[in-house]
Amino acid sequence: MALVGLIGWRGMVGSVLLERMQAEGDFALIEPMFFSTSNAGAEVPASLAPLAQNETRLFDAYDVDALKRCDILLSTQGGDYTTEVFPKLRSAGWGGHWIDAASTLRMADDAVIVLDPVNLPVITQALARGGRNWIGGNCTVSCMLMGVGALYKAGLVEWMTTQTYQAASGGGAQHMRELLTQYGTLNAAVKPLLDDPASAILDIDRGFLQAQRGLDAQQTAHFGVPLGGSLIPWIDKDLGNGTSKEEWKGMAETHKILGLATPIPVDSTCVRVGAMRCHSQSLTFKLKRDVPLPDLQAMIAQDNDWVRLVPNTREATLAELTPVAVTGTMTIPVGRLRKLAMGPEYVGAFTIGDQLLWGAAEPLRRMLRILLGS
Ligand code: HSE
Repeated sequence: MALVGLIGWRGMVGSVLLERMQAEGDFALIEPMFFSTSNAGAEVPASLAPLAQNETRLFDAYDVDALKRCDILLSTQGGDYTTEVFPKLRSAGWGGHWIDAASTLRMADDAVIVLDPVNLPVITQALARGGRNWIGGNCTVSCMLMGVGALYKAGLVEWMTTQTYQAASGGGAQHMRELLTQYGTLNAAVKPLLDDPASAILDIDRGFLQAQRGLDAQQTAHFGVPLGGSLIPWIDKDLGNGTSKEEWKGMAETHKILGLATPIPVDSTCVRVGAMRCHSQSLTFKLKRDVPLPDLQAMIAQDNDWVRLVPNTREATLAELTPVAVTGTMTIPVGRLRKLAMGPEYVGAFTIGDQLLWGAAEPLRRMLRILLGS
């Protein structure tokens, strides 16, 4: 049985990954070794003990010799860990498979961005060439391609632009806590007025704004500015050319995932909103030709087992196309699909994905299954 080292399983993405691996019976196919950056030598926690087989203690996640024993390493520990440990492992001659959620290695020539419902042929070809580095994609890109990858695969896309509505979870667990704490503080600031049906809405509005602007450095430590009741149209680093790193990833990773030979312009404005863990996106396509809407609907609906075409009606949109409806599910709804006023080649769509499932954990565990041949 393959010895699989798990690193970062205590974190948010790692915890979701473990839940999914348990739900899908992955542990029956591997012998896990649980690594820790802080608690090496301790017993595997009671909640995981039933999963541990021969290796019931936590191993040191910086111990190259222990890591080298593994056939496969699966890390959700983050980019700093990958930067520190991965080169040491390879230079120590480790020839195993590295599966990673961090962006550190994503664009490396010898790495494949894994999203098998979309790019299984790219993965298979890389495996045949001896590929050993398998990296999860940016959550926004992965969720977008799970929804509308069919249009790219059909060679229909001349260009695409997206406006994103990205959840707090994309920043990390502390960002989610900060958002909810802000909501609580803001609500408390106007609660007496809210509770009084005779109070004036503009007084509530003024009190709310005052409370937002009054949030201190500690209350905005992770996002930098208030997010509750607001939004932030910048995600990740400033590349210095008017583009954020998150926006740059849109085109770069779409191309790499699909293995596109001819460049297709993909550009976006990436925006953080006060959702918890679902990234939403409003997409605009210019197609290479006028394709009837029913054909586009069929193409999208049949692309994979998780995409769900939501009828473009108010009722269906409210019921199925919101972060609240999608959170915690594997479904990738695509709705608001329609031809736009600019001409018959212009198509609009709206899609949502749970940022921790298809956006992070799921492509990794599926890559593990591909490597296990099951
Ligand atoms: N960069 C993403 C975000 C996280 O901040 O929402 C996952 O790729």
